[in-house]
Amino acid sequence: MLVLGIESSCDETGIALYDTERGLLGHALHSQVAMHAEYGGVVPELASRDHIRRALPLTRRVLAQADRRLADIDGIAYTQGPGLAGALLVGASIAAGLGVALRRPVVGVHHLEGHLLSPRLADPKPEFPFIALLVSGGHTQLMRVDGVGRYRLLGETLDDAAGEAFDKTAQLLGLGYPGGPAISKLALTGDPGRYKLPRPMLNSGDLDFSFAGLKTAVLTLVKREGLDHAADIAAAFQAAAVEVLASKAVEAVRQSGMQRLVVAGGVGANRQLRERLDAEAARRRFAVYYPPLDLCTDNGAMIAYAGALRLAEAGPSDGRFAIRPRWDL
Ligand code: KG4
Ligand code: ZN
Repeated sequence: MLVLGIESSCDETGIALYDTERGLLGHALHSQVAMHAEYGGVVPELASRDHIRRALPLTRRVLAQADRRLADIDGIAYTQGPGLAGALLVGASIAAGLGVALRRPVVGVHHLEGHLLSPRLADPKPEFPFIALLVSGGHTQLMRVDGVGRYRLLGETLDDAAGEAFDKTAQLLGLGYPGGPAISKLALTGDPGRYKLPRPMLNSGDLDFSFAGLKTAVLTLVKREGLDHAADIAAAFQAAAVEVLASKAVEAVRQSGMQRLVVAGGVGANRQLRERLDAEAARRRFAVYYPPLDLCTDNGAMIAYAGALRLAEAGPSDGRFAIRPRWDL
């Protein structure tokens, strides 16, 4: 089965073709980061309009890459939510239109399910069950994953998401958007020991997170010290965030007795987080899996893949054209 995946929940247009026999045949992405940069964050109306401009040219490009025609597609998957309503509507409309025109089934995919399953696009892929650390711009969750659609929430952030904390800290340090890559780059030249920042909820005894206090601590530090030592502040922030994320993920693995940890979402691209988790995994003898680096942040491949699994298991969505801007997994 050949599935076209369409991701348009936020500021990247992602299109991909996934073949259940052959794997990922092609994918293409257009990031709107440069367009939103001057506003310091995503402008929803601009995002929607850009998705409209990009989606079909990207689809043509992916079909050409894979040497396939529209008529070869057996099903269409789109991100149904959560995300920006206008942006989601673009992907949903294109999926519905193609579905009618080609007479193919259409399935709406939960964006986080896409992230959650994306490490299975890598080789070797993690078998079920596993613990998942889902760290994106909007979510920070630890989940137990027993199979497709079988997810149990173990802990989550009580306030800001991890990626949001990276983005807000970057803003305080005068770095651009998105903040994660900018912070980790600047942190390379900084001394993480110069300033000591709090590790919120590190010893809370549960698997929940909190990042709002860390952001406030950075704000206080920047007010006191200015930006002369911005690299040291970035390094201190990253060290604090990574320590909390890694400790809780390791604790979830320990409590569950599982042997596999999967890391997904944009913050999963963070090098220091990966190094820390790799070291913990080697020491404690569990395996840790990441999506291919280019599939950590939003992309169409994870939607095509999750959609293919959903179509195979549960069949198409019920025919209603729908988006769900707010939606718990
Ligand atoms: O998964 P994603 O692309 O979009 C959402 O679904 O939210 O995640 C985007 C988030 C942003 O907050 C971005 O700053 C963060 O992932 N991010 C990183 C890195 N690359 C992206 N955070 C830390 N280190 C990185 N290397
Ligand atoms: Zn995402």
